[in-house]
Amino acid sequence: MVDLLLGLQWGDEGKGKIVDVLTKNYDIIARFQGGPNAGHTLEFDGIKHVLHTIPSGIFHENAVNVVGNGVVIDPVIFKKELENLSKFNIDFKKKLLISRKAHLILPTHRLLDAASEASKGKAKIGSTLKGIGPTYMDKTGRNGIRVGDTELTDWKDRYRALANKHEAMIDFYNVDIQYDLKELETEFFKAVETLKELTFIDSEEYLYQAQKTGKSILAEGAQGSLLDIDFGTYPYVTSSNTTAAGACTGLGVAPNTIKEVIGIFKAYATRVGSGPFPTELFDEYGKTMGRVGNEFGATTGRPRRCGWLDLVALKYAVQVNGVTQLMMMKGDVLSGFDTLNVCTAYNYKGKTITHLPYNIEEENVTPIYTEMAGWKEDLTKMTTTSQFPKALNDYIQFLEKELEVPIKIVSVGPDRTQTIHR
Ligand code: IMP
Repeated sequence: MVDLLLGLQWGDEGKGKIVDVLTKNYDIIARFQGGPNAGHTLEFDGIKHVLHTIPSGIFHENAVNVVGNGVVIDPVIFKKELENLSKFNIDFKKKLLISRKAHLILPTHRLLDAASEASKGKAKIGSTLKGIGPTYMDKTGRNGIRVGDTELTDWKDRYRALANKHEAMIDFYNVDIQYDLKELETEFFKAVETLKELTFIDSEEYLYQAQKTGKSILAEGAQGSLLDIDFGTYPYVTSSNTTAAGACTGLGVAPNTIKEVIGIFKAYATRVGSGPFPTELFDEYGKTMGRVGNEFGATTGRPRRCGWLDLVALKYAVQVNGVTQLMMMKGDVLSGFDTLNVCTAYNYKGKTITHLPYNIEEENVTPIYTEMAGWKEDLTKMTTTSQFPKALNDYIQFLEKELEVPIKIVSVGPDRTQTIHR
């Protein structure tokens, strides 16, 4: 049995926290796409932890964590993540299993990302510059280097051939990128040796056998549905399938083994990087959300753009993923607003529509809002729904009616303990 946990907006919905809260219910936590562009934040015992490639179940004693074939791994960042966790005495060899089919991010992939973005000027994607796009390009172009390849004797020759090609491509972009490849390669090869100390597995086989023996699996998504390479706001997207189907291709689990599809969303909306964001706020409301919600990228530290909740986009994500239950994050950030707006339709080229159109560029779309009452109460100390102010209950019930899916968890703060079940 597999449950999926996915972000329904533009990422940063709080997936790390929820996986951490839910881990006790599962035997295996598995990442299926993305790479170190992700930043999953977990907070407990007064300490904040940010994970990039390692699944968010790593802090729990009994969970096995799998990095699936759909993930792209930068050994250098991975090594740093392991080092950051060294004080926890985690038995990584036993608790962290890596798919041989996962692709490696090479130093030149990162450089290519930087060169590509620099060449785009104003039209840049706003990439995290972790080499994600170029690595997936090599994967689909059938040139990539996989984790399992590092066990072969000739893998460094293949590395060289690919890196040489990348250098020629970097020259092609004709932009000013300074780098010392020798230095980057020394760091990379050292980090690959660290990676090789972990356990490599054929993850689809491992997960199949695990299911046969009754083990439960939580597939942990990264980024959000609106950053999906197919269904997101292309080209301002990431390079993997962040939606539910990505878990099947990124882990090798069959569609009919998936049970719950848990969709995580924030009570408002944020986006980091470029691209359309119809409900974006440029006023004090947006600034307040950013300040109170501490909306800065966990990977890059960039300030996130903030805006009202967009139900047109959220419904689309619920639909594409087949979400069976919802979790609303950061409800506490909205405390203090007199009124709240929720976008329930778009004015698209002069017509009212309630679906996400092909092109949601700013000049085509104006959000149509439903105004709701705000609440003043501080939610962060609340422990049960019976303490919720009426306006918050109305907000939640309105969303449930519109989205036709129950909201099972309301999160009222970053800590594990600030999680209210409904
Ligand atoms: P890339 O995947 O790093 O190339 O970035 C492509 C776009 O996705 C950029 O707009 C990034 O800001 C965004 N993005 C990538 N990963 C995340 C994430 O984990 N959270 C939020 N946005 C992300």
